[in-house]
Amino acid sequence: MHSLLIVGVGSIGHRHLRCFQQTGRVHASICDSNSELLNQLADQYDVKDKFTDLTSAMASRPEIVLISTPAHLHIPMATTAVEAGSHVFVEKPLSTSIDGVDELVERAATRGVTVGVAYVMRHHPLLQQLKQVIDTRRFGQPLQVTVNSGQHFPFYRPAYREIYYTSHETGGGAIQDAITHMVNALQWLLGPTTALVCDAAHLSLPDVEVEDTVHVLIRHGEILGNLSLNQFQLPNETSLTINFEQATVRCDLHSGTWQYCTQPEGDWLPGGESSLERDDLFVAQANAFLDAVEQGASPACNLHAAKHTLQTNLAMLASVRDKQWYQIP
Ligand SMILES: NC(=O)c1ccc[n+]([C@@H]2O[C@H](COP(=O)([O-])OP(=O)(O)OC[C@H]3O[C@@H](n4cnc5c(N)ncnc54)[C@H](O)[C@@H]3O)[C@@H](O)[C@H]2O)c1
Repeated sequence: MHSLLIVGVGSIGHRHLRCFQQTGRVHASICDSNSELLNQLADQYDVKDKFTDLTSAMASRPEIVLISTPAHLHIPMATTAVEAGSHVFVEKPLSTSIDGVDELVERAATRGVTVGVAYVMRHHPLLQQLKQVIDTRRFGQPLQVTVNSGQHFPFYRPAYREIYYTSHETGGGAIQDAITHMVNALQWLLGPTTALVCDAAHLSLPDVEVEDTVHVLIRHGEILGNLSLNQFQLPNETSLTINFEQATVRCDLHSGTWQYCTQPEGDWLPGGESSLERDDLFVAQANAFLDAVEQGASPACNLHAAKHTLQTNLAMLASVRDKQWYQIP
């Protein structure tokens, strides 16, 4: 059994508590500055050790610290935990600026601890099947990718006006909060992002000013990409199409299927499917991180990959501001 401290038990921290407990591999303790929420979750999940600040929580010397506070707190909290010798699992995005990231990478290496970032799409069975298709070159090289994604954020997150979402400084807006998932997934599937130009605007969500709609033209070396995402459309749908040298592959996350077509006017042929309950991805992610800790292996999304996605998030924000293409370091 691993001792796991979850810092921040709001929306996603609550889910992590439930999903890590479901693995049967952890003893969880929790920390949140909101003591009412802390007490409520401690009762509901039978958690004995609860803390209202990170300093007192770290005195219990947890083996693993999971950080699910707003993004501007991730690097200082992760640094504290790594310095204490804990393995760290931190929510996405890694941060809202590059400050302190290289120091965290160095300290994690010196301490010999595992640090992973919770880009959960890497555990999606359809995307894992797609990665297999790409890595085995089943249809040749991928040449072009299109992602279309949208959902009605106020329906799924009615509290959006009161949380980190309202400001870029705390990790809000569609770029850092939402499209970053698909950007990270494409980097995993297709390799690093090399350049991008981005357009974004606030079009619909009441009572906030951050962008709720993003369009990005993106390059992964020779591969051309095009992503669009909004947070107000009524259907909750995400489709990803990759045109390879020898086939077109379409992956519909909302229907849990992928299909492929190998000739002009040809039928779509079934590629694979998966049916997921809402917690399944998060339980898979929890088990994968615990496996990485036990094996001393790299987690599904390590600090280097998450730093690259952070640089991509920052380039998207800068591109919207400056109306220019950006090269990604
Ligand atoms: N992977 C996903 O699907 C997913 C989904 C939602 C959120 N997230 C990410 O998770 C992070 C948290 O999002 P959320 O929606 O759970 O936010 P939230 O506001 O619901 O929860 C954050 C919690 O952190 C607590 N907190 C804030 N400062 C603290 C401090 N100094 N010490 C202790 N506790 C503190 C708050 O009281 C709150 O309970 C964000 O980075 C967000 O982008 C990821």
